[in-house]
Amino acid sequence: DKGGHRHFMAKEIAEQPTVLADAISRYLPAGADDIVLPEAIDFTAIDRLTMVACGTAFYACNVAKYWFEQLARLPVEIDVASEFRYREPPVPKGTAALFVSQSGETADTLAALRYCAGKADRILSVVNVPESSISRESDLALPIHAGVEIGVASTKAFTCQLLVLALLALEAARQRGEITAGELQDRLEDVRALPGLLNQALTIGDPVERLSRDLAEARDILFLGRGAMYPLALEGALKLKEISYIHAEGYASGELKHGPIALVDDHVPVIVMAPRDALFEKTISNMQEVMARGGRILLVSDAKGIKSAGDGVWRTIQMPDVSAFLAPILYAIPAQLLAYHTAVAKGTDVDQPRNLAKSVTVE
Ligand code: M6R
Repeated sequence: DKGGHRHFMAKEIAEQPTVLADAISRYLPAGADDIVLPEAIDFTAIDRLTMVACGTAFYACNVAKYWFEQLARLPVEIDVASEFRYREPPVPKGTAALFVSQSGETADTLAALRYCAGKADRILSVVNVPESSISRESDLALPIHAGVEIGVASTKAFTCQLLVLALLALEAARQRGEITAGELQDRLEDVRALPGLLNQALTIGDPVERLSRDLAEARDILFLGRGAMYPLALEGALKLKEISYIHAEGYASGELKHGPIALVDDHVPVIVMAPRDALFEKTISNMQEVMARGGRILLVSDAKGIKSAGDGVWRTIQMPDVSAFLAPILYAIPAQLLAYHTAVAKGTDVDQPRNLAKSVTVE
């Protein structure tokens, strides 16, 4: 049942405020001041976290690395499961291993988990399907409560994975004494405000639909982001290529001049995911480098960011203001909607893109 939407993907994008609110209520019950986990995790007993996943779930790990390192000062190693399992990395004492998977059945992620079993101090997982293999074989599985996800392109599972990882990072920060009680309550307030912000962000659907008709003409598209928005650039590019078959790449903004800028001309739209944060000025200079070469910038930012970017930007998508902490969750919405509307404009099979399976149970 597509609930009145044209595709499951559209329904799953639109469901995000509701499913996030549900997931928040499980981990942050109304009236509680603390994060409630299904079982305790002692973050003072571990020295490092190894996070492993594939595809979009791997990009959620990329975002979470910023959170765990910045908030909890916990060193994080991340890798894609297909590399991790054959690299056979050392797993030093004091390592917790965390696997992220919507389906809980991805072959490479499961193999990476089995490699860590008996080596890591604790095997954790962040999963959507509670009865899945990855869930069962973990010491502690944290459900994301996204509900069934049917579209091959992962949408609500990504934002729910991010939510659970954000709360885990805050819990780690609290236990490790890296955050004051007041700061923690401020962050939890940010989390509680998320469903409302997601609802606001979804109103960009119409403008995104209009500009996606132009994007659908492109052969190549670049996505740029800095800090925790860099993984969002990767996610935006993956979503777009998966369902619209347009070649897209995500880069860290600062990497532009180390190669990819050679691709830029007036045929290559460059989508910049950049809320006005501490790194915004640096992103502006990257945009100027693109514009000086005739590149067309699509800036996804808040009102202040769009204002300070000035003239010369090809198109803008205005997002609500959001804390730097939770911007990666909110900016998933434009990443998803840009891919969705571009694919619809091209007339591709959005829910069942060619060559792809929802769950990759063979390597
Ligand atoms: O079920 P999983 O989360 O383990 O799946 C991982 C990837 O196969 C998945 O995220 C894939 O990249 C999606 N199609 C992305 O939209």
